[in-house]
Amino acid sequence: MFEWSGELEVGVPEIDRDHRSLLCQARVLDEAVKANDPGISRELGALILITEAHFRWEEGSMREHGYEGYGGHKADHDHLLKQIYTLRDELAAGRVDVSSSLLTLFIQVWTRKHIVERDRAYASYLRSSVQPS
Ligand SMILES: [Fe+2]
Ligand SMILES: [Fe+2]
Repeated sequence: MFEWSGELEVGVPEIDRDHRSLLCQARVLDEAVKANDPGISRELGALILITEAHFRWEEGSMREHGYEGYGGHKADHDHLLKQIYTLRDELAAGRVDVSSSLLTLFIQVWTRKHIVERDRAYASYLRSSVQPS
């Protein structure tokens, strides 16, 4: 479920490297959830930090390269962060039944969907715009 696969590769080393760490941390979180480990919120916190840093990098790169899809991509990031912050708060308040693995299913779905749709589109733009002439 959290394994890296070729379909997730976008061809920009910085982005692919970040996505690998995101998936890796998502897997750690998934294992904590399955084991009903008390470290769940710490692992979720780590995933949030990796995600925030990665989104900042992508957004800075998009602005720097005058990417026309910036607005939509940034809105997608903001939406994802809002959802993950809500999950963190719900988890802290004890309102999320983590044993259902809903949390990890949610993360898996949005991560892959965003990578395959938004990130791949930006990566093709970036690769063509920084191509040496
Ligand atoms: Fe993105
Ligand atoms: Fe990304």
